[in-house]
Amino acid sequence: MTKSGSNAMWGGRFAAGPDAIMEAINASISFDKRLFAEDIEGSRAHAAMLAATGILSDSDAEAIREGLLTVLSEIETGDFPFSAALEDIHMNVESRLKEIIGEPAGRLHTARSRNDQVATDFKLWTRGQIDAAMEGLRALIGALLDQAEAGAGWVMPGFTHLQTAQPVTWGHHMMAYVEMFGRDLSRFRDARARMNESPLGAAALAGTSFPIDRHMTAEALGFDRPAANSLDAVSDRDFALEFLSAASICAVHLSRFAEELVIWASAQFRFVVLSDRFSTGSSIMPQKKNPDAAELIRAKIGRILGAQVALFTVMKGLPLAYSKDMQEDKEQVFDAADTLLLSLAAMTGMVSDMTANRPALEAAAASGFSTATDLADWLVREAGLPFREAHHVTGTLVAMAEAKGCDLPELTLAEMQSVHDAVTEDVFGVLGVQNSVASRTSYGGTAPDQVRAQVARWKEVMG
Ligand code: ARG
Repeated sequence: MTKSGSNAMWGGRFAAGPDAIMEAINASISFDKRLFAEDIEGSRAHAAMLAATGILSDSDAEAIREGLLTVLSEIETGDFPFSAALEDIHMNVESRLKEIIGEPAGRLHTARSRNDQVATDFKLWTRGQIDAAMEGLRALIGALLDQAEAGAGWVMPGFTHLQTAQPVTWGHHMMAYVEMFGRDLSRFRDARARMNESPLGAAALAGTSFPIDRHMTAEALGFDRPAANSLDAVSDRDFALEFLSAASICAVHLSRFAEELVIWASAQFRFVVLSDRFSTGSSIMPQKKNPDAAELIRAKIGRILGAQVALFTVMKGLPLAYSKDMQEDKEQVFDAADTLLLSLAAMTGMVSDMTANRPALEAAAASGFSTATDLADWLVREAGLPFREAHHVTGTLVAMAEAKGCDLPELTLAEMQSVHDAVTEDVFGVLGVQNSVASRTSYGGTAPDQVRAQVARWKEVMG
């Protein structure tokens, strides 16, 4: 029997209910209701295990199973009376179960605590988000591979310091992001493998005297094994920290790429045309087509990294085992996961739809003396000059072209020979951008054949 006003789940020793402000700071139901499916899944596995080990009668277990399914459908259809007085999703579900099936509901929490329950729910949820992030990354990598394959031989300027450096290929640039997002994928995969141990059955912190079977619940919930230390099991949130860390690194990659798209879509660059589907207009300037999705992706890193810093700060300095501080883990992770998945989807849409402006890319690739290194390399290879001298001769030729207002290939042979007499007609062969990229055949280099080989390798990896 509970006294009026006190909490039905833990009010036994309380004479009065909580102050409204206490309830407001304590309740997590407004956000942890998001864990309802995982909570019910965990409870079903727990009840089945209690029956299999003889801790619970089969008829009670059956009543609990059916009742939980009813609760699940009530929540799914939006027909569930969530209550802040019942604090969190765990007690909301259990209390409703009691209303539906009566006395057996009170036996569900045998050999379990909200501490192992919440750790289990949250881990299951985070694992699902990792799977979704990996799916999103696979789709993005697929879109990048399509771009890279189509444009393996298209030339564009490669930059350092955002200054024209050397010509590269469109495919090579796309494949650079494939490498980054591929590492992100493997980070999520690693995190998933490491986190996949079940906290359920750790109980409050010390384990339980009931003859439970933690291997059975672990298996039922798709975990590889039960967590080996009950104190650790209820206080571990490094699975969430690892998810946020992997998400933050992925968001850095997304943000860098988004920045490039913003630059490329500008009227000054015109390297790409973004589709109407992934652009917006201006309400005052009719000519404008804005890369809003790219700008937002560029900015979203702030939320994800913010979540990471917030959770690191919550967890640092917490003594073992569970502390209520840990209730502050969820909203950050929820928001970071939503943000990451949306950013991945938006980036995939933009990349699939975007059109490279080949003439603009090619013109830009040929300007800015982008083949100066090729000229210096030619002087080393064909004329036997030491690289430092070749560098100096090339610099003089660049200055000459600049003074003339032309690019390197437009200098005459006589002009070149006036700087160094070892220059021959053959030099013009390396001054063209196509020849330049085709010559970069070292492993991982920008030559179209190298790019095609990497596309083929990744297509095989991605299956
Ligand atoms: N709502 C709590 C949380 O999210 C559940 C665990 C509460 N455990 C406790 N002993 N008060 O962390």
